[in-house]
Amino acid sequence: MEAISDPDRTTSTALLNCLRREVAEVSTTAGHLLLRLPHTGTLLRARHGRWPESPELFTGTWHPVTWHELAVLVVKELGTAPVGFLDEIAASHSAIAAILAARTTPPADLYQRSEQALVAGHRYHPAPKSRGSLPATTWLPYAPETHASFPVSLLHTDVVDAGDIDLPPGTLPAHPLQLALLGRTADAEGPEVWPTSSVRTVYDPAADLFYKFSLDIQITNDVRRLWTYDLRWIPPLAQVLKPVFADIAATYPGTAFLLDRGYRTTPAAFEALAVVLRDGIRRHTRPGVTPLLAAGLSEGFDGNPLDTLTDPLAWFRAYVSVVAPPVLHAFFAHGVVMECHMQNVLVGVDASGLPVQAFYRDHEGMRLLPRHTALLSDVDGGVAGARGVSEAKGWERLQYCLVVNHLVEIAGAVQARHPGADVWGEARAVFAAYAEEHGSPALLMSLLESPVVPAKANLLLRWSRAEGTASRYVDCPNPLRGTSS
Ligand SMILES: Nc1ncnc2c1ncn2[C@@H]1O[C@H](COP(=O)(O)OP(=O)(O)OP(=O)(O)O)[C@@H](O)[C@H]1O
Ligand SMILES: [Mg+2]
Repeated sequence: MEAISDPDRTTSTALLNCLRREVAEVSTTAGHLLLRLPHTGTLLRARHGRWPESPELFTGTWHPVTWHELAVLVVKELGTAPVGFLDEIAASHSAIAAILAARTTPPADLYQRSEQALVAGHRYHPAPKSRGSLPATTWLPYAPETHASFPVSLLHTDVVDAGDIDLPPGTLPAHPLQLALLGRTADAEGPEVWPTSSVRTVYDPAADLFYKFSLDIQITNDVRRLWTYDLRWIPPLAQVLKPVFADIAATYPGTAFLLDRGYRTTPAAFEALAVVLRDGIRRHTRPGVTPLLAAGLSEGFDGNPLDTLTDPLAWFRAYVSVVAPPVLHAFFAHGVVMECHMQNVLVGVDASGLPVQAFYRDHEGMRLLPRHTALLSDVDGGVAGARGVSEAKGWERLQYCLVVNHLVEIAGAVQARHPGADVWGEARAVFAAYAEEHGSPALLMSLLESPVVPAKANLLLRWSRAEGTASRYVDCPNPLRGTSS
């Protein structure tokens, strides 16, 4: 079952998801989701399935609205649009069309299929597939969603390294699209790689290594450049994470972190031409296990184990059991806040499709709790940087990444195939068992009772950035909440 549809439908769904989560007063009728936009009083309805779709506007009677009309209604509701907002949505819409037209036969490798399955992109972002204002011809040859693969570019130049870098001296691997954006040409071609779901991180199957590049293109909320600040943190984070993950793997066998080992760059273009070397996946995968991108499981691809699922409750219990306890342990036992959203987590499934391993990645989004003050002050030179967070802020981020931008979607994918399956009862049992075994941490106990969990407001963020305020999270119903209270 592939969830991919046409660009119109996908674009409307993303806007409806944003409205539903961030703006509207929501109610449901049989088959429909009703969205009342509080400022303008606009009344919308959408067909209610896995995703809301086919939006209609009430003007005495219901009549269909296009994705573009829906975007205009969003602007009316929220007030003067930030510069470029409607263009970004249109660009995202065209990008989906271009991807669908250029898509080739899926690769044989299931792991690659799962990484390259995100045609619709982030489902709760107004313009998920917009890639700056570049024409599709420039980026399509490097797009994961078309099943692209290409040789990495090599520059022969003076290089500087930090961390554990095992590359030939004087050679800098570069992303061909980044070179083109900088107006440079390659000196040679390197190994054949394929792009992962993040677009700017590619996998080299021969070396079993990932290369993460700077890509000066805005994708969802960020220009995907490797910033000096994040580069500086790569070696110290690797030092923190090695013992943390040794402990986590001892407690939860099969759990691994795909470590960013270090980076190489050239002094003349320190950020723009940096490359991060990340542990490959094969070295961490047990025999007989197939790693799959969590977000790929949610979106769907040919060979998705969810398509042949017979016991949804046992499957979801196994899924949550491999994914959740390691990140709770990283937080509570080690003060490490993992950005464990479903684009940063891979799940290993056994021959029957049951989850048995979890792999985490992405140093950049990781945060450290105050117990790491000495390191934070050391690396950030005594000035408070972005890496450290209070326990409350770290917990907010973890709940969003783990529950809202991960388990909610996997549960949705399971329930789309097995309507009515009480998957959240299974998830709750796993969280409750962790709490019981670890002295009932107050934050975790409150998560199990809270009516709401924090969701990142990707639509409102465009407006709040324009106004310079920092409201980033909105409340969203907590599916983990016990029904007995
Ligand atoms: N549900 C999702 N949540 C977050 N990002 C998503 C989601 N679906 C697709 N994406 C895409 O995945 C990427 C996530 O960004 P993130 O910062 O985690 O990764 P990255 O730093 O670019 O690369 P890597 O994950 O290899 O370290 C973005 O390109 C984003 O648009
Ligand atoms: Mg990521």
